[in-house]
Amino acid sequence: MDTKPTTSLWDGLLIDCRLATMNDTGVAFGAIHDAAIGWKDGRIVFADAMRTLPGKPDQLSAQVESAAGAWITPGLIDCHTHLVFGGNRANEFDQRLNGASYEDIARAGGGIASTVTATRALDDASLLAESLPRARALVEGGVTSIEIKSGYGLDLDNEIKMLRVARKVGMQLGIDVRTTFLGAHALPPEFRGRQDDYVAHICEVMLPEIARSGLADAVDAFCEKIAFTPDQTRQVFSRARALGLPVKLHADQLSDLGGAALSAEFGGLSADHIEHTSEDGVRAMAKAGTVAVLLPGAFYALRDTTLPPIAALREHAVPMAVATDLNPGTSPLLSLRLAMNMACTQFRLTPEEALRGATTHAARALGLHDRGRLAAGLRADFTIWNAASPADLCYWIGGSLARSVVAEGRLVAGREFAQ
Ligand code: NIG
Ligand code: FE
Repeated sequence: MDTKPTTSLWDGLLIDCRLATMNDTGVAFGAIHDAAIGWKDGRIVFADAMRTLPGKPDQLSAQVESAAGAWITPGLIDCHTHLVFGGNRANEFDQRLNGASYEDIARAGGGIASTVTATRALDDASLLAESLPRARALVEGGVTSIEIKSGYGLDLDNEIKMLRVARKVGMQLGIDVRTTFLGAHALPPEFRGRQDDYVAHICEVMLPEIARSGLADAVDAFCEKIAFTPDQTRQVFSRARALGLPVKLHADQLSDLGGAALSAEFGGLSADHIEHTSEDGVRAMAKAGTVAVLLPGAFYALRDTTLPPIAALREHAVPMAVATDLNPGTSPLLSLRLAMNMACTQFRLTPEEALRGATTHAARALGLHDRGRLAAGLRADFTIWNAASPADLCYWIGGSLARSVVAEGRLVAGREFAQ
């Protein structure tokens, strides 16, 4: 690790802390006790044992604070959300409790289609106003990077509006938002009965314009019996790749359509949900380096019973990320830490796997190498916790444990260090 003193002073230095660096050091959580973390110009310059500091703390920075033994982790990364949307679907919650399935509701014209109507009706400012509190809840829970998908606009203008608003969410909160174009989420009403025409429209009209706008970092699709077929997904992915955009997929959530392998076939960043993925699908992911994004909030809300193939993922060393899937239908979940808890309780991840899933592996699911661990040179994104150990972050169900949340060296939620 590069610990050479910089020529000018560091912007901040926290001493007397415990770091869950998440580096592969052979120690659980990559933990370092009696540690310090220093940063400058938004980047970490030091994250190591205090005794290896390259000078006296107050010679290194004018802003030295003691963390009084608190645990610090990398800022959490929520790598799969749909948090920009209009309205909500609490009525469907009721319907499902009365026996209707997610598919029944979708086929009856509810589900995603009803959120499309509500989202189209809002202008940028109102959509931003409805979305910000959800993103803020995540940040207050320790999150410093969020992926946000479109997919409730389903025409060019409304999809662009969603992506624009998603980027504004990041700017307003001082965190990094990565955007994903999800035009192939559901069939818009204008194309009723003409699904192939809509797919052609996505490929010929929407994708080129989205690529030109620079508003999307990746392209996603919903490959499922109630959404788009593997062939249609292939068409969207071929075009996205030709335009230089990476892909990821809502894969094998309700049935096994070979979605995980399909994402891998296109060098996909991730295959998400994957409850019904076969071992062959897992093998294909391992070969392509595609991350498995586990979404226990949707599993819980839909009272699903088919578990993702965790043993096979471990056996084939596929990195597992954990995300909220925050959306108005299947996962109205406003806490990434709760998703981590659910990943442990429902999917039997270890707390260390779950924390890695919301840091290092989540970064990888977004194709990012500058975050997700505490190490010199990476973004100064970190969270200081009121917790006795890193495993506590998965153990406690609910509550607010994040004490200070820092993105690129700036406090974005919680208390000033000295307080
Ligand atoms: O990730 N599965 C498809 N998309 C979302 C749900 C969207 C919705 O119901 O509004 C998901 O579960
Ligand atoms: Fe999703």
